[in-house]
Amino acid sequence: MKKSKIGWILGLLWIALAAQAESGADLWLRYQALPEATAQQYTQALKTILIAGSDELQQAAGNEVQKGFRGLTGQNLSAARRIGDGTLVIGTTADRVIADLKLDGLDDLDEEGYVLRTVAVRGGKATVVAGRTSAGALYGSFDLLRRMQSGEGIAALDVREEPAFQLRLLNHWDNLNGSVERGYAGHSIFWNREASFEELKAHYLTYARANASVGINGTVLNNVNASPEVLSADYLQKVKQFADLFRPYNLKVYLSVNFASPAVLGGLENSDPMNEAVQQWWKDKAGEIYSMIPDFGGFLVKANSEGQPGPMDYGRTHQDGANMLARALQPHNGVVMWRAFVYEPDNDDRAKQAYMEFMPFDGKFEDNVVVQVKNGPIDFMPREPFSPLFGGMQKSPVMIEFQITQEYLGHSTHLAYLSTMWKEVLDADTWAKGPGSTVAKATDGSLFGHELSAIAGVANIGRVENWTSHHLIQSNWYAFGRLAWDHQLSSEGIADEWIKMTFTHDPYFVSTLNDVMMRSREAVVDYMNPLGLHHLMGWDHHYGPEPWTDHEWAREDWLPRYYHRASEYGIGFDRSSSGSDAVSQYHSPLKEIFNNPATCPENLLLWFHHLPWEYRLQSGRTLWDALVYRHYAGVEEARYFQRAWDRLEGRIDARRFSDIQYTFKVQTREAIWWRDALILYFQTYSGLPIPAELERPIHDLEELKELQFDMKHHN
Ligand code: GCU
Repeated sequence: MKKSKIGWILGLLWIALAAQAESGADLWLRYQALPEATAQQYTQALKTILIAGSDELQQAAGNEVQKGFRGLTGQNLSAARRIGDGTLVIGTTADRVIADLKLDGLDDLDEEGYVLRTVAVRGGKATVVAGRTSAGALYGSFDLLRRMQSGEGIAALDVREEPAFQLRLLNHWDNLNGSVERGYAGHSIFWNREASFEELKAHYLTYARANASVGINGTVLNNVNASPEVLSADYLQKVKQFADLFRPYNLKVYLSVNFASPAVLGGLENSDPMNEAVQQWWKDKAGEIYSMIPDFGGFLVKANSEGQPGPMDYGRTHQDGANMLARALQPHNGVVMWRAFVYEPDNDDRAKQAYMEFMPFDGKFEDNVVVQVKNGPIDFMPREPFSPLFGGMQKSPVMIEFQITQEYLGHSTHLAYLSTMWKEVLDADTWAKGPGSTVAKATDGSLFGHELSAIAGVANIGRVENWTSHHLIQSNWYAFGRLAWDHQLSSEGIADEWIKMTFTHDPYFVSTLNDVMMRSREAVVDYMNPLGLHHLMGWDHHYGPEPWTDHEWAREDWLPRYYHRASEYGIGFDRSSSGSDAVSQYHSPLKEIFNNPATCPENLLLWFHHLPWEYRLQSGRTLWDALVYRHYAGVEEARYFQRAWDRLEGRIDARRFSDIQYTFKVQTREAIWWRDALILYFQTYSGLPIPAELERPIHDLEELKELQFDMKHHN
């Protein structure tokens, strides 16, 4: 072929591919044209739109529906003055048009709840999206859009929805210098930006819309390791800009505060919560904030944890500290989220500490305080049992903190669809009030009758074009919001709608990716931390395997050996009644179940027990063999994901396809790295062989130790 001809063909090919390229920047709100037959059912049902109220939330809802409808169907909804056949009405019970419809089930709707109804009107049928507040109408509008984006029928709607948790928040661990603690998707979207706020507006609106689309109604804009500076007048001005922009999307802003702010920022002698000048400083600061941001959400506080200042610096307690802040916020209806992530080196078992430190304060906090507890007793490991504070603390509201960012699950390189992990925790039975006392019910206010209920997820969002770096882990942001709205949803269902909205309705694509996503977190657990093992990663970057790490200067509980306790005898942390007795922090019969290695769930066995290498599991395998098999199974899964993805080529745009293809390759390579490192290292203790039918490790141990060293210096 002639050169010019090849160039011409390549050029055409390039144009074809480029036309197909999607960056992922629009998240699941792409509103790409639907197949004609699907689009037709929507253009038949909806022809005109009537926004009943005039506030900015309803306007935002209307604009979104218009935009979505146009993208999905290629048609515009024209504005209607009155309800007729094909009208979409959006509004609240306070709006005349909605009130006149006299719909049932609206009056006792929760503040942010909504209904979607198909109603008979003169000449045909209309569709109603109604809330008691405009926030409800906004969430209902996004629900309607989600149905259309996923190709569901909307001709006979009868939906009534209320959120499970009252406060559904993202926590951004963003520093004011623009870095993000444990962030793997570039720098902070909020802080230290070169571009002006004006220039970034469109980007921030996508953020707000995405949150509203899944029901997230609050965002903490800065790191829990908080700089006092954020409360300075200059920063509050920036916070106000965000609050103003996010308000039409019902997204409130919150701040993490540094407990020492009165001294550091205010120049007071100390920050002792019993010091009246300190109390007054916080009251004044709250007044200042609310004068600028009347609907400001409140404070998130990490105190006396990992070196952060707190009330204990002055011989005071969590109760003193939290209540002082709570009183400052009470006149403005703000809340304090006081974190229970605490651990001290002198404790015999880090997993016990939060419970021991917080249980004495149960019922002693002001009404606007909620204790924020990580899902597990240690720290967002790939698998932990739930924290015993869920179901333990009953008189004070407790909220769950999940981590969307994958600090311990392969950062933004590995796919771990976390809905399955969060469901595992939310559905776990605490037995606090007999069977069925799930973690979800212990935190959503229903089990112990609390008015205040909340849930938080540490965001995986950064400045990169597609928000999360790995395209597929946008799903974790999405799933967090959906579960915060309704913890009864299934992980498969959430994945299904997300895939359809984010990629395509192609059934083969949807079912293949759904299957991969559903298996993904367990695969990561298998190659990284099977059978309840935990904290085997490098102690600072938390990325690759480093079970061997030793530093003379390091705190005992920073080092993996504190957790795995491998010896020639066996492996695991004995938290049974003959060990640290962490099991006793759970209710019966769970504590007895955990306490006995024969009844302890196998996937938590080495969390609760130290067992000999030759210990026989239910399966008949020895502990050593089971461990080895699990690591190999994890790698096989990663290989399977890679192959399954390869088969999807041509079914979505080329750019996202190849980005994802690349990350699966890396994931497989690193799964092998984890498998080999852990098996070869533990083998130095067990002295047992790798079963003959398994492939041989690819690496050798010394080489892996070097590799780890290199990686640290690259980061
Ligand atoms: C983990 C994490 C820290 C974070 C801390 C917290 O320890 O590694 O970066 O600050 O959790 O949740 O406060």
